[in-house]
Formats: sequence, C-alpha cells, structure tokens
Amino acid sequence: MSSTNIDPNHVRIFDTTLRDGEQSPGISLNAHEKLEIAQQLARLGVDVIEAGFPIASPGDLEAVEAIAREVQGPVIAGLARAQAPDVESAARAVRDAERPRIHTFISTSDIHIVHQFRSTRADVLAQARAAVAHAKSFVDDVEFSPMDATRADLEYTAEVCAAAIEEGATTINVPDTVGYTTPEEYRAFLGGLYRLLPELHDVVLSVHCHDDLGLAVANSYAGVLAGARQVECAVNGIGERAGNASLEEIVMLLHTRGELSGLHTTAVTTEIARTSRLVSRLTGYVVQPNKAVVGRNAFAHESGIHQDGVIKERTTYEIMDATSIGLDANSLVLGKHSGRAALKQALGELGFHVDGATLNTAFKRFKEIADKKKTVSAMDLEALVTDELRESMPSYTLESFEVHASSTGSPHAKVEITRTDGTRSEAEFSGDGPVDSVFEAINLATGLDARLREFRVDAVTGGQDALGETSVVLEYEGQSAAGQGVATDIIEAAARAYLRALSTAVRKVQAIGEATDFSATEPVATP
Ligand code: KIV
Ligand code: ZN
Repeated sequence: MSSTNIDPNHVRIFDTTLRDGEQSPGISLNAHEKLEIAQQLARLGVDVIEAGFPIASPGDLEAVEAIAREVQGPVIAGLARAQAPDVESAARAVRDAERPRIHTFISTSDIHIVHQFRSTRADVLAQARAAVAHAKSFVDDVEFSPMDATRADLEYTAEVCAAAIEEGATTINVPDTVGYTTPEEYRAFLGGLYRLLPELHDVVLSVHCHDDLGLAVANSYAGVLAGARQVECAVNGIGERAGNASLEEIVMLLHTRGELSGLHTTAVTTEIARTSRLVSRLTGYVVQPNKAVVGRNAFAHESGIHQDGVIKERTTYEIMDATSIGLDANSLVLGKHSGRAALKQALGELGFHVDGATLNTAFKRFKEIADKKKTVSAMDLEALVTDELRESMPSYTLESFEVHASSTGSPHAKVEITRTDGTRSEAEFSGDGPVDSVFEAINLATGLDARLREFRVDAVTGGQDALGETSVVLEYEGQSAAGQGVATDIIEAAARAYLRALSTAVRKVQAIGEATDFSATEPVATP
C-alpha cells in the first residue's frame, strides 16, 4: 500500500475463525459463543474479525450484528457472495461496527465458472464489478476475493481484480480455496498479479490459504514475502476440510523469525494459548497434542538429552518461550479460603467480568471445587467459566447423582434434575457403563429422547486432583448440540455436559418451531 501513515511492514491478521472456521463439519456456535470468541479475538489484537456470512442463516446475521455492536478495536467484516441480497445482508449486519467491512467474492477459475455457476467469464466480471460497487455504497472498506484464484487464469483474475479496484475495493484477497498451490507457485502468481495490475500496490493484498496439502502456513508466508500485508487465518487452523492457515503459527512465525523479512504483526502473543483453548472448548475441536505452538506437547521435552539441555539453558531446544504465548497462566492461584472479591478479581484478570447472580453461581461452584482440590488455578477458573457462566439459564440442571459400578454387576445410575420452573424429577437406569447409565437416566428424568454422538474427557491441568473436563455432542429431534462440564468427578462433569447440551438442543428445536418467518428461505451454500 502506498498510503503515507501506514506501516509498510505491518502484516494484518484477518481472523476467519467465526466464518471459514465455523464451516468445519460439526461446528455450530450460537451467537453468544461467537460473541465470546470475538471478544477474545479483540483481546488477541487481531486486525480484522470476519464475523460470519450473514445471508447464510438468521443465526449468522444475528451473531454478526451482535459482534459489530459490541466488539471494539478490530474491523468487523461480513461475507457476501457477489449478489445484491448477500451484500445488503452483510451491510445490515456490520452497520453498527466502529469499522465495518464487506467482503465479497466470486470465483475466477473456469472450473467453478463453467461447472458450478454455469456462467461465463464476462458475466462473472460484471457480477464482481457490480457487487463491489454495491458494497461500496454502504461502506468504505470493501474486500474482494476472486475465489479459487490459484487454479484460475492469471490474466483473467487480474482483469476481475482491476474491475474490483476501479469500483473501490480496498483489499484484494487471493484465495487458494482448495489448498492446491505451493509456496513458489503462489509467490509467482501474486508477482504476476502485481505485474499485470500495478494498481494492486494501492490496496492491501491479502492471502487466504487452505491446508489440504499441509501448506497453508507456508503458502501464506510466501504470499507475505510477495507483498501481501493481510493474512487470513483461523485459530487452531480450523476451517473448511483440512482447515485454514493457523493464526497462531503465522503470528509466531513472524514473531520468532521477523528478522528474516522485517515484517511483524500487532497481535498480543500472550493471548494465543487462551484463545486456542477457548476456541477448542466452544467448537469441540480438539487440538492435536503435537500441533505447532498450541499443542499440549509444543513445549514438552521427553528425551533425556533435551530435558538436560533445557534445564541448563532453555534456548538449547526451545525456539519460543512458552510465556510468550501465555502459557504462564497457572501463576494465578486461589484456595478454599479465597472470598468472592478475590474470585471476581481473578476472573476479571482473565477477561470475564461477572457480577450479581452470575458471580454467585461462579462462587458456589468455585467453593465446591476448592473444597475438593487444594488450589484452583487460572486454567481451572477458565474451565469453570466455560461450564458455568456461559449460559445464564440452562433448561435443566443437575441436582444430584449416584452411580454404582463394579466388575460383577451392571452399572446403575440415579439422577435428580431441576427445570427452570423449579420442578424436579428423578430417574434411574442400568446401562452398559456408568456414563451411559447417567445419560440414559437423564433422558428418562427429562422425558427427552436424545442420542449421544460424541463424548470426550480431558484433564484441565496436570496432577491427580486435576479437574475433569468433558465435552458432549448429542442429537435431539434432528438438532445437534454441544455441552461442556467441569468437575473433580468425571461422571459429574459428564452429567453436567449432557444436561447443557440437552438444554441447548431443546432451545434450538423451540427456536426452529418459532421461526416460521424463515421457513421459506432457501438454504445458502457456504463458500
Ligand atoms: O476459501 C475461499 O476461497 C474462501 C473465500 C470466501 C475467501 O473462503
Ligand atoms: Zn476459505
């Protein structure tokens, strides 16, 4: 970009966790969860949050609107196909943002133009031009993406981008939609675009790479070396199919090896670990243990030689300091004598501002846990917030449970649950295992026939008295929903997670019943 007071070495981080990331199979975040992630992304200091694809569903529109209204700092972008209703929906969704952006796209590859759109290059060019012009009538900040560019004709892609720039696009993003390109090829493609279209120097060039061949980060880096000053990426690398370039890898690459290129981001690296945990918890997508930067083992040393080296001097086997991504969070510790004010302050330091009834709930749960566990760390509190404070009024809560399991008889569970109106019911069940018995007993107590789809147990921290964190995905009347539970006892954590998921599923079913207005709306295919 040639504009004067813009740092030419600043690489903008465009986070698409809530849009492309949310397109990962099985992820379905509600508006509240999306807002919470967006707030954390703002703390992480990303430059742009792509908050969703507003035309795709009323839920997406509502979430983007909420984020635009409530999240300060980053640019808030809404995605739109190169069609007037999409652009209008995106414009409506981002209108309350401090710095709104509309991101519109259409494919320039013949594979897509011929086989998917059954259109022509001329029509696509006209559509791109019209969509950018339309978007520009609502906002100053317009991004245009020629989808599947890396499999498209360079000259034609340059022509379409030229039209977008003429109509006022301020960012041109060149997607490797199917994760097909290689670093050398991508760099050459972008170099070719600069050559054919010198006006590209007057806007921000952006890269958007998918990881089908495991090259998303390498390709994005090649793009940056070719002149791109925006990288589109997602936390934990989630996204369509094999995912997007992983945000934490891009940020830490530029942070750790910035001297190679002289480039930098303005992301707050110490927020990386927390952002990764939050996204993993809310999406239900586990981070693989050996994942670069945020995997559980990314800073673990197993071999004796490595351990010996690191004890003597950390840099012998570590190229990044764990504290630089925020892995020192365990320094904050509360105990069973800590009071409500200390809990409130500790939660505040973690970015959760709680008061009134929510603080009371948190304090009650904190006391229960602190009674069983000597110390409650920041990671424990974070998990507790996930479990307890996210949803103000779950439809069902666990009052008590009892489980008998032995190597001789069938496991048996008894549960008592409370509804929001205060009514209670009990049920018991003998199933295949203790967890199965609890889940079936809950189905009987609530009178709901839900089916378990996924179940996972993790320890929040190390140590024998670590909190157990469970994630459940279940299906009820065609709606799937996820829930998390945290407790020192994993059966209790499982029951809590199941009831949370069930409460969400019931709400979804009710919402669908009430949303008659939208029943005639055609489903929108996501990009
Ligand atoms: O992968 C892709 O091409 C996209 C576009 C919408 C930018 O996600
Ligand atoms: Zn994509």
